[in-house]
Amino acid sequence: MFGRRGLKVEVRDLVKIYKYKGGEVQALRGVTATFMPGKMTCIMGPSGSGKTTLLNLVGGIDKPTGGSILVSGEGVEVRVHDLSFRALDKYRLQYVGFVFQALNLIPTLTAEENVELPMMLAGMSKRERKERALKLLELVGLKEKAGRYPEELSGGEQQRVAIAVALANDPPIILADEPTAELDSENARAVTNVLRRLVEEFGKTVILSTHDPRVAIKTDRILRLEDGRLVGEYRPIDLEKSAGAEAAKEGVAQVTLAELIKMRLASIDEDIARLEEEFRKGLIGRDEFYSKVSRLERLREALQELLTSIGSS
Ligand SMILES: Nc1ncnc2c1ncn2[C@@H]1O[C@H](COP(=O)(O)OP(=O)(O)OP(=O)(O)O)[C@@H](O)[C@H]1O
Ligand SMILES: [Mg+2]
Repeated sequence: MFGRRGLKVEVRDLVKIYKYKGGEVQALRGVTATFMPGKMTCIMGPSGSGKTTLLNLVGGIDKPTGGSILVSGEGVEVRVHDLSFRALDKYRLQYVGFVFQALNLIPTLTAEENVELPMMLAGMSKRERKERALKLLELVGLKEKAGRYPEELSGGEQQRVAIAVALANDPPIILADEPTAELDSENARAVTNVLRRLVEEFGKTVILSTHDPRVAIKTDRILRLEDGRLVGEYRPIDLEKSAGAEAAKEGVAQVTLAELIKMRLASIDEDIARLEEEFRKGLIGRDEFYSKVSRLERLREALQELLTSIGSS
């Protein structure tokens, strides 16, 4: 079902400045990193540190202010930073599967039709489309719900359909911006497992952003962004999988689930303070503020429980 292997993605000195009325934000301040096929890299970092910006630039949704993005391998070489917006649309359709932070299914199309849409844009025949869409929905465990509309699916199911949509055209590069943010741990695990399979069985290049230590621990590498800069690289030590020796050799810092959970717990108060500030400035409404804060508080509880259960509080 997935014949195209991943491609190497190299970003060099990547800078992104957003200009808006009355000011500008330097969202990325010179990021350099290489992402290999058959590897799953996770971008972590506080809210506003530039995770979405980095994924958007690699995915060709936006253009960098400076620096380069080179995609290569399998006889392909694309200088993404040089492409026009029109060429970027093509690049995206051909090479990138994007799972967005906010759900982006089309409400008037069924799950199956949503998955078929990118294949239609790529010019695949109706029969092939349908067959492939059903296979993709089966991969994410939703074959029997192919005829449902997004509103007839749970948030977790919608996110899994969104993953099937992202995989429709067999993209070498899969980008996922907080793919598990709205999900309970069961659904989060299902989503993470699908992404892992894409890396292990099909050699895809997967880059995701997450705030969730339970997701981060399942990846091959964690890059930490702060204020638009890469400030650290870690090798997750998943005790269930027991990797580690390799990381020690390469001199990359290792990190365990317990350590990741502690880092996340330490940043939750910061996130809440930031939301309070946004609320005070009128940047977000009352409902959004309360729902986000209560989600963070639930997450804090869940993480504290998890920490206790793995015996390292
Ligand atoms: N279109 C835009 N116009 C102006 N500023 C922007 C725009 N998009 C992002 N920013 C700013 O750029 C910075 C990085 O934003 P980005 O969305 O990449 O952060 P993030 O790490 O994904 O955060 P989160 O964890 O909240 O999703 C922030 O200061 C943000 O306010
Ligand atoms: Mg983001």
